[in-house]
Amino acid sequence: MTNAQLFNTIFTRKSIRKYKVTPLATETLTGIKEYARHIKPLDESIRYEIDYLCADDVKGLLSIKAPRYMCFFSEKREGYLMNAGYLLQQIDLYLSANDLGSCWLGMAKPSKDVPSMKNGMEFVIMLAFGSAEVEVHRTDIAAFNRKSLSLISTVTGAEELLEPVRLAPSATNSQPWFFSGDINEIIVSREKLNFIKVPLYGKMNQIDIGIALCHLMLSLENKGKKATFDFHKDTVPSGYEFMAKVKVRSH
Ligand SMILES: Cc1cc2nc3c(=O)[nH]c(=O)nc-3n(C[C@H](O)[C@H](O)[C@H](O)COP(=O)(O)O)c2cc1C
Repeated sequence: MTNAQLFNTIFTRKSIRKYKVTPLATETLTGIKEYARHIKPLDESIRYEIDYLCADDVKGLLSIKAPRYMCFFSEKREGYLMNAGYLLQQIDLYLSANDLGSCWLGMAKPSKDVPSMKNGMEFVIMLAFGSAEVEVHRTDIAAFNRKSLSLISTVTGAEELLEPVRLAPSATNSQPWFFSGDINEIIVSREKLNFIKVPLYGKMNQIDIGIALCHLMLSLENKGKKATFDFHKDTVPSGYEFMAKVKVRSH
């Protein structure tokens, strides 16, 4: 699977919440695990691991019964939530590109029989996946319920580049991202909300930004450019919190 294939999938992917109950073929699961071993992190220094669970090992599913759940554990370090979003979004796109369904699950947790820590790393988030009971792909961009680009960006001349980023999935479809700066150095920030009242949302929100950064990296690659990420704080519009600066380089 190439990044160009992942890029094309951005325009058709959707969250799948209805799955065939039949288990995945062994070779399909093996292929997914093999791909998952080669995904690229945002920050190479943050340790993480992925486990593969069945529905019996998961609580808080809220009726999303899938054949399998990818369970993401990470070292709790600066940027680990963005890193989780960046990594697992590559898998979300890979699954869709292979005509399989997937859905990010912010509410689910490993059941009490499954350890919530793994090799000193904490459970972060899950992704349900399997053969879908419904159509896996969207056929029309209009089917994406997203904010318009003018509401999420002030970057001049970046309309085509940011369109695939606009389509990124986010928890409760909140689309917390904002893009400022210029076409060579894009500053990515997230909406400041009252995270004390909704702590889970403050966590999901950072995963969302990692997902958007994954789409931005793929969009830049599609234009023959390369993204390098800088996490040193920079100025952002009022009401937003700095998350990353994306420096655009030619390949
Ligand atoms: C971090 C994260 C957590 C999510 N948690 C859930 C969830 O618990 N249950 C659910 O049904 N969908 C969940 N979603 C899926 C979003 O609701 C979905 O991505 C969004 O509504 C946009 O729809 P689309 O993915 O079909 O384009 C989550 C998505 C993300 C990115």
